[in-house]
Order: sequence, then structure tokens, then C-alpha cells
Amino acid sequence: MVRWKNSFYVQKTPASENLPWTVIVEAPINPHFSSLQNLYIKSLALVLLIAVIALILANLVSSWLARPIWKLAEVTTDVPEKLVSQKVSDWQRTNPIIWPTSWVTEINALVENFKVMASTLEQKFQEIKNSKEQLEQRVQERTRELSAANRELRAQVSERQRVAEALQQSEALSRAQAQKLEKALHELQLTQTQLIQTEKMSSLGQLVAGVAHEINNPVNFIYGNIIHAKDYTQDLLKLVQAYQQQYPHPTPTIQAQIEAMELDFITEDLVKLLDSMQVGVQRIHDIVKSLRNFSRLDEAEMKEVDIHEGIDSTLMILKSRLQAPSPDKGRKHPGIKVIKEYGELPLVECYPGKLNQVFMNILVNAIDAIASGLFAVTNANDALEQLKVEGLEDNIQPINLQPATPWIRIRTDVVEDNWVVIRIADNGIGITEELSSKMFDPFFTTKLVGQGTGLGLSISYQIVVERHGGKLECISKPQQGAEFIIKIPRQQSSLLPRLNPVESSE
Ligand SMILES: Nc1ncnc2c1ncn2[C@@H]1O[C@H](COP(=O)(O)OP(=O)(O)OP(=O)(O)O)[C@@H](O)[C@H]1O
Ligand SMILES: [Mg+2]
Repeated sequence: MVRWKNSFYVQKTPASENLPWTVIVEAPINPHFSSLQNLYIKSLALVLLIAVIALILANLVSSWLARPIWKLAEVTTDVPEKLVSQKVSDWQRTNPIIWPTSWVTEINALVENFKVMASTLEQKFQEIKNSKEQLEQRVQERTRELSAANRELRAQVSERQRVAEALQQSEALSRAQAQKLEKALHELQLTQTQLIQTEKMSSLGQLVAGVAHEINNPVNFIYGNIIHAKDYTQDLLKLVQAYQQQYPHPTPTIQAQIEAMELDFITEDLVKLLDSMQVGVQRIHDIVKSLRNFSRLDEAEMKEVDIHEGIDSTLMILKSRLQAPSPDKGRKHPGIKVIKEYGELPLVECYPGKLNQVFMNILVNAIDAIASGLFAVTNANDALEQLKVEGLEDNIQPINLQPATPWIRIRTDVVEDNWVVIRIADNGIGITEELSSKMFDPFFTTKLVGQGTGLGLSISYQIVVERHGGKLECISKPQQGAEFIIKIPRQQSSLLPRLNPVESSE
């Protein structure tokens, strides 16, 4: 202000167009300053007054305009919640909506819109309430239906459970019956096999025993008397010699008779003849003994016996099958070599006749297996010969077709103190693992119809396992023979209760 008070008004004007001079006029501000200041203050005060009045008016107008809007806001604040609540009618009764009014048309229109919206909302809420009630009613009905269905279902389930239990029971019953039937069938099969085998063996036994018995008496007679016959002959020959010494010149008749009968030859040959007769009778005697031993018809009871005797007598019975067959029979094997590797066996308590049946079955099978092996080799050789004739032998792989010397090896031993083991092995055709698992089944046979019944091993198994409480196993591989291992306890007395009463009464 003070600076302005001391200021000047300055005006610069060029003096003439032709002259480069400027006219400068300066006038001080000070004499005009106070009137200017007053004018300025008055204008400012007026502007301020107008602004204050404008503010007050604006405030009044805005509150006048906003009041119905505030009221509308207040009225509509809780409407949706209250309308949603179940007690909407009560609420309406206690808190009627007082809609605001205004001179402003737009606000009135807004209020009207809110009124419409509220009534629509109310209507919608009512509809929702109605449908909710309907829904609840339907839910209740459905729940009732469902619980009824549930009850029915439970009843059905328990009924089914009862039926299932009954079914299970009847199934178990029929299974038990089926098992019983199966067992009975199995027993029947076994009994049948036993009957057939027993019949077979008893026929063989009876035949053997009959023959043995018939031969036994005359053989015993000859066997018993041949010694005396030899003695008497010796005596008579000595007498003849004494006569010859005493009467060196017999009568011509006697001399002619001596020459005719070749007395010197008879004297020499008669002793040999009697010796060979004694050997022959001894042999018949041994055979008869073996036959009797094998049949053991008189021995259904358990007995302590020498197992080796049983094996030997069985081998004796099978002697003809073990020997080389006569050439006219067409078979070529040189006889089956029987290798006996007997151990020191004590007497074994067993059913000797039954055990002999087992030896018989296993040895016959071994002979058959060897024969089949030889037959296969012969066939292969024949086929090879045929290929050679046809000039085709180059097409085949060379194989060893030399038949091995057939043998059966019998080993006996005592193991684990109280067990006797008899191993019967052969170098026959052998059998596959798959088939060997069935070989103890009744009626299982790989032999041709009429050549095998398939009972031998099942009966043997029954005799060894069930009657003697032992074990019977087979180890075999195709083309590599088979070995049967019979294991029986040395003492049977403890196993007596195992005895099958039907069997024991045989
Ligand atoms: N040593 C063996 N080597 C090879 N296979 C054998 C031998 N022993 C038995 N088998 C097989 O076991 C099968 C059953 O033998 P099993 O003695 O029970 O009946 P089978 O000899 O056929 O008839 P059978 O009633 O006349 O004895 C035989 O057919 C044979 O296939
Ligand atoms: Mg057999």
C-alpha cells in the first residue's frame, strides 16, 4: 500500500515522426489513492454480504429439498427386512408407512415410484410367503410319504434279510448235504475200488494160494524124500560096486545086461541126476514158499514181518515179466535188471498181504513203464529207419535212440528211528508233473482200455496212508523214469484206531 502511495502514473509518447525524441509525462498517485481505497473496501464488503446471503439461501433451499428425500430414505430403510419377516402384517399395523410429500414434482414422482416398489415388494413377499407355506406343506407331505416309504422299505429290508438268512441257512444245508453226498460218493468210489482191487488181488491170492497149497504137499513129499532117495541110491550103487569087486567075472547074462544099461554111465549120471533133482525141488519149494508168502491169505491181522521177504516174493511172482521175453513175442529187451539195495531193516508191524499188494502194484507199473519206454524207442527207431529208407534222415535232429538197459532199483532204509522207507525206482517212460498229480486218483490211467483200471495206485495209497498211517509219493519226469517212495512206521500198534472196520473184517 505504502509502495502504491509513492507510485507515479507514467506516459511515454514519441515527439515527432521525424525526430527520435520521446515525451515522458509523470503524475503522482498519492492524491487519488484514498478515494480508490474506499471504493475497493466497499466493493469487497458487498461481495462478502452477497456470498453470505447466498450461502444461507442455498442451505435453506437444500434442506427444504432434502427433507422429503431423507424422510423417504428413513421410511424405506427397513422395509425389505420387515417385509421378509413373518410378522409383516403386524409390523404394518404398528408402523404404518407415512410417505413424505413435497412441492417438488420430481421428488413426488420418486416417492410414488417407491410406493409402487414397496407395494410390489409386499406383494412379492406375500407370494414368496405363500409359496413357502405351500412348499413347507408339500415338504411335510413328502416327508410323511417318505417316512411311510422308509418304514415300508425297512420292513422289506428286514423281510429280505430274513429271506437271505433263510436262504443262507438252506444254502449251507444244501452245501453240507452236497458235501455229505460228495463224501459218500467218494467213499462209494473208494469202496468200489477196494472191492475191485480186493477181488482182483484175492482172486490172484486165492489162485496163488491154491496152486501153492496143491503143489506144496507133493513138493514137500519129494523135497523130504529126495535126501533119502539119494542115500538109498548111494547105498545101492555102493552095493553094486561091492558086487563087482567080489564077482569081477559075472555070468554072460548079467554082463550083457550091464553093457545094455551102460552101468558105468548110470552110476555116474544117477548122482548128478539126483543132485539136479534136489536143486529143482529146492527151487519149487522156494517158489511155493514165495507164493504162500505173497498171498498171505491167512494173515488179515497185523504182524511183524520182514519187508524184504514180501518184496522178494512179489518179485518172484513177477519173475516171468522181468525176464527177457522169448524172441517169438517180438519184444527185444534183455530182461529187466533188478537192483536190490536193501538196508538193515527190523521186523515191521504191518498187514503183510496188503503191503505185498502195494509192492505188486508199483512193480507192475514200473515194468509197464519200462515196456512203454522201450516201445517208444523201438517206434522211434523204426520211424528213423523209414526216414533213412526215404533218404530224409537229414531233416531230423539227431537224438539218442539207444534203449537204456532197463532196470528197477529197490532201496530200503530206516529213517528217523521209527520209519521204514522203501523206494522203488525205474528207468521207464516216466510221467509229467501234471499227470503225476492225478495218478493216485481212482480210475486214473494212461493205459489203453482193457490194459489198466487205474485202481492200482489209489488202492496202494489207501493201504499205505490210511491203513498204515504212512506216506506214498512219486517223483517222476517224462523220459526219466519214476520213483515211488513208501514210508511206513515201524510200529503200527499206536495207529490201530485208524483201522477201517469194514476192511478189518475182510
Ligand atoms: N512207474 C511209473 N512210470 C510212469 N507212469 C506211471 C508209473 N506208475 C504209474 N504210472 C501212471 O499212473 C497211472 C495210474 O496207475 P495205476 O496203477 O493206478 O493204474 P493202472 O496201472 O493204469 O491200472 P491198474 O489198475 O491195472 O493198476 C498209470 O496209468 C500210469 O500212467
Ligand atoms: Mg497199475
